[in-house]
Amino acid sequence: MNFTDQVVLITGAGRGIGKALALAFAQAGARVAVNDINPDSCVKTADEIIASGGQAVACHADVANKLAVQAMLIDLEDRWGRVDVLVNNAGVEPHKPIVQLDEWDWNRTIDVNLKGAFICSQSVGRMMQKQGGGVIVNIASIAGRAAGLRDRSAYVASKTGLIGFTKECAREFAAYNIRVNAVCPGVIITEMTAHLRQNEAQLKKWLEDIPLGRLGEPADVTGPVLFLCSDAARYITGQAINVDGGKVML
Ligand SMILES: NC(=O)c1ccc[n+]([C@@H]2O[C@H](COP(=O)([O-])OP(=O)(O)OC[C@H]3O[C@@H](n4cnc5c(N)ncnc54)[C@H](O)[C@@H]3O)[C@@H](O)[C@H]2O)c1
Repeated sequence: MNFTDQVVLITGAGRGIGKALALAFAQAGARVAVNDINPDSCVKTADEIIASGGQAVACHADVANKLAVQAMLIDLEDRWGRVDVLVNNAGVEPHKPIVQLDEWDWNRTIDVNLKGAFICSQSVGRMMQKQGGGVIVNIASIAGRAAGLRDRSAYVASKTGLIGFTKECAREFAAYNIRVNAVCPGVIITEMTAHLRQNEAQLKKWLEDIPLGRLGEPADVTGPVLFLCSDAARYITGQAINVDGGKVML
């Protein structure tokens, strides 16, 4: 898959799945805008891409903050003039039983995972409409597809909402040659899932339920995302694709 000279904006790309996506798009020739709320980590990812001969810029912003996202996009438009691909990847996952989950945790989860995708899709969607097209991929989760995660009510609500938002975006943006899909990873080995991997009993149970018999790596997610963003997927929009070793079969 070749993304030569395309401008790809990935949110939450300072580490984990977002970082793997940034490196993969850069390797496929893209100019990568590396967003993260953590200024050090997005600079680090961008530096890594540049050091290996790719093109990247660090774009520090909180995706839940509309003004910060708009300022980031003004800078990006000045630099590269367009955004061809947006990957809404930034996410947070608090775990607490419902009776202990405080309102701040609930609001923050919905703000980052769902409102953040709305803010970025709206602002980038306007740019894509002007430029004649583009592609958006939302990193949802099998948590939004009946995977049944204990103590993750806000997360499950945000990811279920994100899948619904993906479909409406796809419907509204289709007339502007903008495709919108979601990728729903299973358990992927990143810092977000460190707690799960430390709990041996929980890990054993998860592995028993995964037909392919292993947890995922960030690199397992990059291929499907690049495919959905490529011309090979030009007739695919409004879909949510599980990348989970077969754990959830709908
Ligand atoms: N790891 C998994 O098993 C798994 C499974 C399903 C879905 N996902 C989803 O994939 C995405 C990436 O997950 P990960 O495992 O790489 O997580 P991670 O915690 O390793 O990385 C998330 C990144 O997002 C950044 N971020 C958080 N809030 C932000 C904000 N408001 N604005 C900008 N950046 C922000 C963090 O600083 C971090 O760099 C998330 O949306 C997550 O919900 C992960």
